[in-house]
Amino acid sequence: MAKVHRILLISGPNLNLLGEREPAVYGTDSLDTIVAEAVQAGHELGFDVEHEQTNSSTRIVELIHAARGSYSSIIINPGAFTHYAWSIHDALRTFEGPIVEVHLSDPRRREGWRSASVVAPVASGTVAGFGKTGYRLAVLAVASLLR
Ligand code: DQA
Repeated sequence: MAKVHRILLISGPNLNLLGEREPAVYGTDSLDTIVAEAVQAGHELGFDVEHEQTNSSTRIVELIHAARGSYSSIIINPGAFTHYAWSIHDALRTFEGPIVEVHLSDPRRREGWRSASVVAPVASGTVAGFGKTGYRLAVLAVASLLR
Protein backbone atom coordinates (compact mmCIF):
# COMPACT_ATOMS: atom_id res chain seq x y z
CA MET A 1 0.00 0.00 0.00
CA ALA A 2 1.27 3.49 -0.87
CA LYS A 3 2.52 5.56 2.06
CA VAL A 4 0.12 8.29 3.21
CA HIS A 5 2.22 11.41 3.62
CA ARG A 6 1.50 13.50 6.68
CA ILE A 7 1.86 17.23 6.04
CA LEU A 8 2.15 19.66 8.94
CA LEU A 9 0.52 23.03 8.24
CA ILE A 10 1.54 25.74 10.70
CA SER A 11 -0.16 29.13 10.98
CA GLY A 12 1.60 31.76 13.05
CA PRO A 13 0.56 34.83 15.04
CA ASN A 14 -2.65 36.77 14.40
CA LEU A 15 -3.80 34.36 11.71
CA ASN A 16 -6.50 33.17 14.14
CA LEU A 17 -8.15 36.54 13.41
CA LEU A 18 -8.46 35.98 9.66
CA GLY A 19 -11.85 37.16 8.43
CA GLU A 20 -11.86 40.04 10.93
CA ARG A 21 -8.28 41.20 10.58
CA GLU A 22 -7.58 43.69 7.76
CA PRO A 23 -9.96 42.03 5.29
CA ALA A 24 -8.74 44.30 2.47
CA VAL A 25 -5.30 42.68 2.84
CA TYR A 26 -6.11 39.14 3.99
CA GLY A 27 -9.64 38.52 2.70
CA THR A 28 -12.87 37.74 4.50
CA ASP A 29 -12.50 33.98 5.00
CA SER A 30 -11.76 32.56 8.42
CA LEU A 31 -8.65 30.47 9.05
CA ASP A 32 -10.92 27.46 9.59
CA THR A 33 -12.34 27.84 6.06
CA ILE A 34 -8.91 28.30 4.48
CA VAL A 35 -7.48 25.31 6.32
CA ALA A 36 -10.49 23.13 5.44
CA GLU A 37 -9.81 23.79 1.75
CA ALA A 38 -6.12 22.90 2.17
CA VAL A 39 -7.06 19.70 4.03
CA GLN A 40 -9.47 18.81 1.22
CA ALA A 41 -6.80 19.51 -1.43
CA GLY A 42 -4.44 17.24 0.49
CA HIS A 43 -7.08 14.55 0.78
CA GLU A 44 -7.56 14.54 -3.01
CA LEU A 45 -3.81 13.98 -3.38
CA GLY A 46 -3.72 11.24 -0.75
CA PHE A 47 -2.14 13.43 1.95
CA ASP A 48 -3.08 13.87 5.55
CA VAL A 49 -2.80 17.63 6.20
CA GLU A 50 -2.73 18.46 9.93
CA HIS A 51 -2.96 22.06 11.06
CA GLU A 52 -2.04 24.06 14.12
CA GLN A 53 -2.28 27.80 14.70
CA THR A 54 -0.27 29.44 17.45
CA ASN A 55 0.69 32.95 18.47
CA SER A 56 3.90 31.69 20.08
CA SER A 57 7.27 31.33 18.34
CA THR A 58 8.32 28.85 21.02
CA ARG A 59 5.37 26.65 20.12
CA ILE A 60 6.30 26.82 16.43
CA VAL A 61 9.86 25.69 17.23
CA GLU A 62 8.45 22.82 19.31
CA LEU A 63 6.02 21.81 16.54
CA ILE A 64 8.89 21.70 14.04
CA HIS A 65 10.99 19.55 16.40
CA ALA A 66 8.09 17.14 16.90
CA ALA A 67 7.55 16.94 13.14
CA ARG A 68 11.02 15.53 12.57
CA GLY A 69 10.70 11.90 11.55
CA SER A 70 6.91 11.88 11.61
CA TYR A 71 5.86 14.34 8.90
CA SER A 72 6.93 14.28 5.25
CA SER A 73 6.69 18.02 4.74
CA ILE A 74 5.94 21.32 6.47
CA ILE A 75 3.84 24.16 5.06
CA ILE A 76 4.26 27.28 7.17
CA ASN A 77 2.77 30.76 7.28
CA PRO A 78 4.88 32.24 10.07
CA GLY A 79 2.97 35.57 10.07
CA ALA A 80 5.19 38.40 11.33
CA PHE A 81 7.73 35.86 12.64
CA THR A 82 8.66 35.49 8.96
CA HIS A 83 10.59 38.70 9.13
CA TYR A 84 12.80 38.19 12.19
CA ALA A 85 12.41 34.84 14.00
CA TRP A 86 15.76 33.18 13.44
CA SER A 87 14.81 30.51 16.01
CA ILE A 88 12.21 29.30 13.49
CA HIS A 89 14.80 29.43 10.70
CA ASP A 90 17.17 27.28 12.79
CA ALA A 91 14.41 24.82 13.74
CA LEU A 92 13.39 24.42 10.09
CA ARG A 93 17.02 23.67 9.20
CA THR A 94 16.71 20.51 11.32
CA PHE A 95 13.72 19.24 9.34
CA GLU A 96 14.66 16.80 6.59
CA GLY A 97 11.61 17.09 4.29
CA PRO A 98 10.49 19.82 1.89
CA ILE A 99 9.30 23.10 3.42
CA VAL A 100 6.89 25.46 1.67
CA GLU A 101 6.44 29.04 2.93
CA VAL A 102 3.00 30.51 2.32
CA HIS A 103 1.52 33.97 2.74
CA LEU A 104 -1.92 35.28 1.91
CA SER A 105 -0.58 38.70 0.94
CA ASP A 106 2.67 39.34 -0.91
CA PRO A 107 4.89 40.79 1.82
CA ARG A 108 7.40 42.12 -0.75
CA ARG A 109 4.75 44.48 -2.10
CA ARG A 110 4.00 45.96 1.32
CA GLU A 111 6.06 47.83 3.93
CA GLY A 112 9.83 47.49 3.48
CA TRP A 113 10.32 45.55 6.72
CA ARG A 114 8.14 42.74 5.35
CA SER A 115 10.48 42.11 2.41
CA ALA A 116 12.91 40.06 4.48
CA SER A 117 12.06 36.42 5.17
CA VAL A 118 14.15 34.27 7.49
CA VAL A 119 12.17 31.25 6.29
CA ALA A 120 12.77 31.64 2.54
CA PRO A 121 16.42 30.47 2.69
CA VAL A 122 15.34 27.11 4.17
CA ALA A 123 12.16 26.66 2.11
CA SER A 124 11.91 24.93 -1.25
CA GLY A 125 9.75 27.84 -2.35
CA THR A 126 7.30 30.52 -1.33
CA VAL A 127 3.67 31.01 -2.37
CA ALA A 128 2.55 34.60 -1.74
CA GLY A 129 -0.07 37.04 -2.91
CA PHE A 130 -2.84 34.63 -3.95
CA GLY A 131 -4.97 34.97 -0.83
CA LYS A 132 -6.58 31.79 0.45
CA THR A 133 -5.81 29.98 -2.83
CA GLY A 134 -2.17 30.08 -1.74
CA TYR A 135 -2.81 27.42 0.89
CA ARG A 136 -4.10 25.00 -1.76
CA LEU A 137 -1.23 25.95 -4.07
CA ALA A 138 1.19 25.16 -1.24
CA VAL A 139 -0.31 21.66 -0.93
CA LEU A 140 0.10 21.20 -4.69
CA ALA A 141 3.72 22.37 -4.40
CA VAL A 142 4.33 19.77 -1.69
CA ALA A 143 2.84 17.10 -3.95
CA SER A 144 5.28 17.96 -6.72
CA LEU A 145 8.19 17.98 -4.27
CA LEU A 146 7.35 14.60 -2.72
CA ARG A 147 6.80 12.74 -5.98
C1 DQA B 1 1.39 37.22 6.36
C2 DQA B 1 2.29 38.41 5.98
C3 DQA B 1 3.06 38.90 7.19
O1 DQA B 1 3.87 40.03 6.83
C4 DQA B 1 2.11 39.33 8.29
O2 DQA B 1 2.84 39.73 9.44
C5 DQA B 1 1.09 38.30 8.62
C6 DQA B 1 0.47 37.57 7.52
C7 DQA B 1 0.50 36.78 5.18
O3 DQA B 1 -0.02 35.67 5.22
O4 DQA B 1 0.30 37.55 4.23
O5 DQA B 1 0.72 38.12 9.76
O6 DQA B 1 2.21 36.13 6.71
